[in-house]
Amino acid sequence: MELNQVNFYKLNVRSCVVVTTVSERGISNAAPFSFNSPISFSPPLFGISSQPGHHTWRNINQNKEFVVNFVDESFGNLMHILEKDFPYEVSEIKEAGLTEVPSTEVSPPRIKEAYAWLECRLYDARELGDHIWITGEVVKVDVKDKCFDKALNPEKCRTLLHISGKYFAVPKLEEFRRA
Ligand SMILES: Cc1cc2nc3c(=O)[nH]c(=O)nc-3n(C[C@H](O)[C@H](O)[C@H](O)COP(=O)(O)O)c2cc1C
Repeated sequence: MELNQVNFYKLNVRSCVVVTTVSERGISNAAPFSFNSPISFSPPLFGISSQPGHHTWRNINQNKEFVVNFVDESFGNLMHILEKDFPYEVSEIKEAGLTEVPSTEVSPPRIKEAYAWLECRLYDARELGDHIWITGEVVKVDVKDKCFDKALNPEKCRTLLHISGKYFAVPKLEEFRRA
């Protein structure tokens, strides 16, 4: 079946992360991002792709820091709140009934209910198409013990993946032979 090219991204199943930032006055903001990726091992770089009007980008542009919160399937039912266009400085973390906890290296908080966290400092930002590709240097990484054996166990942590719109997925762990 041929798809219209605007639907190209619906063929990727992507981690759904929630990015936390703070305003100049230190008020928190959270938004889901499924356009995201690791980029480099050394330095460790992680990128998110944001529409330019998002409060997330406004805050990162000002304060140069963000936290990538990896979330489980329980966040699926919170997406409609987390993605809502609240006025600037209304915290989606509070609106969604989630808990802010301090990060160790950066000012934006972590979301306690997430299962892993990347604390990032802005490394680069550039306009790409109709989005801004925001690259952060990862300065601190934590993951809940039960979620990580030799690698992330997505079954144990019930990793939330995004396809498009209201369509999400939860993965199953498989081990395949490598060369
Ligand atoms: C599952 C999901 C994934 C999303 N992924 C992205 C994304 O990768 N990039 C983007 O710009 N917006 C994405 N959005 C939309 C933003 O999260 C939404 O517009 C949000 O209100 C932006 O918040 P902010 O203005 O507080 O930054 C996504 C929304 C959902 C529900």
